[in-house]
Amino acid sequence: MSVPHFPVLIDGQTIIRRIHELARELRSRAEEEPHFVAVLAGARPFADQLLLALGRERGSYDSIRLASYSGTESTGTVRLVKDLEQDVLGKRVVILEDIVDTGRTIQALRAILFERGAASVETLTLLSKPSRRVVEVPLEGVGFEVPDLFVIGFGMDLDGKFRELPYVGVYQTEEAERPA
Ligand code: IMP
Repeated sequence: MSVPHFPVLIDGQTIIRRIHELARELRSRAEEEPHFVAVLAGARPFADQLLLALGRERGSYDSIRLASYSGTESTGTVRLVKDLEQDVLGKRVVILEDIVDTGRTIQALRAILFERGAASVETLTLLSKPSRRVVEVPLEGVGFEVPDLFVIGFGMDLDGKFRELPYVGVYQTEEAERPA
């Protein structure tokens, strides 16, 4: 079996620089200390880097695990796999997401948070694929807009693989790579 090859869409340095900008933007509009909710497992590297960039001004942190993908396909239904550990009542919640695709995950998570009494909900996402949107969701911070490609790395996976790549790459099947 040949070793998979992934063209780099966004290199690691560019990602880190952009996360620092997002941290600055967040700080500049901060009225109340944020309560971060990272969407696992994909958003973990993004959340780690953002909290590092925020330094002492970081707020509280929790995480949730939701699933909607099977392979490279969105199933259309969002499942709660691991719940939050802290309550969100009255808090300014800032969701940290790896990628917003159809928008269903953020829509479902916003509904959960508001139902539990969050005072406000903002979303920061490392990547957004606007051309794939099925439901419109407000995004207060977007690292990069990307085309309709299946991406892996910097937290993003294909069935649990490739999350640890230090860049965002484009997943290509062997068929797609093979010359005609
Ligand atoms: P949405 O609910 O369709 O917006 O999808 C959000 C979730 O789908 C993300 O948190 C990812 O886990 C997954 N996802 C969507 N597109 C990609 C991709 O290109 N690569 C890896 N995961 C993806």
